[in-house]
Amino acid sequence: MREAIIELKGVSRTYRLGDETVHALDNVGIEVASGEFLAITGPSGSGKSTLANIIGGLDAPDAGTVLIDGEDLSKVSDKQLSYYRNKHIGFVFQSFNLQPNYNALENVMLPLVLGKENSKSRAARAKECLEAVGLGDRLRHYPNQLSGGQRQRVAIARALANRPSIIIADEPTGNLDSQKGAEIMAILKDLNKNGITLIVITHDPAIAKQASRVVSIHDGKLEEGR
Ligand SMILES: Nc1ncnc2c1ncn2[C@@H]1O[C@H](COP(=O)(O)OP(=O)(O)O)[C@@H](O)[C@H]1O
Ligand SMILES: [Mg+2]
Repeated sequence: MREAIIELKGVSRTYRLGDETVHALDNVGIEVASGEFLAITGPSGSGKSTLANIIGGLDAPDAGTVLIDGEDLSKVSDKQLSYYRNKHIGFVFQSFNLQPNYNALENVMLPLVLGKENSKSRAARAKECLEAVGLGDRLRHYPNQLSGGQRQRVAIARALANRPSIIIADEPTGNLDSQKGAEIMAILKDLNKNGITLIVITHDPAIAKQASRVVSIHDGKLEEGR
């Protein structure tokens, strides 16, 4: 087995809304090897997005540990956590989450702002990422001037900007028709072939079966296999 790039032990996450308690994740343990393509499936409300957000450092567990590349995320400051997230993780979301008032190039430049590069080299890197997803001819288009599939490609370019070692895609094809969805999956799989660890959250069995490994969640509990 290759070295684990992600390791969760005993991770729980509880939400409290008034008197109600939701165990979004209940004692979840998982290791993800470097370079793996892991699919996470499960019904709506089972805890998939919560898990994705915790792996990516967007959310913190109430209990348990999250090690990324051997680093314990619970032991780092908020500032270190956002640095880590920016440097190592690329996120892709179902609803693209682009900034409507920025064009494609500016959207992809956003995660580079925290780095030390000047704006000229940020723009050059952003252009390179947009070219890599086949959007070299749409640099100045705003999100509302792009199709859904193109918006998701901009989001992938943005995720790539800082050369992440891990991409986490939460239902990346959920808002796309099946052909556009297949194009997005082809891009993500290609990145995985080039060494990026890929985690895709999906309802779609046809997508899950493309992964090298599938886990499923039910009521916050993780199970290996379909
Ligand atoms: N911010 C929140 N506040 C309260 N409950 C939440 C919050 N986020 C998620 N939940 C609850 O946690 C459970 C898991 O949610 P989520 O991880 O989004 O599921 P999935 O992505 O599998 O649909 C659901 O029951 C959801 O209602
Ligand atoms: Mg979700």
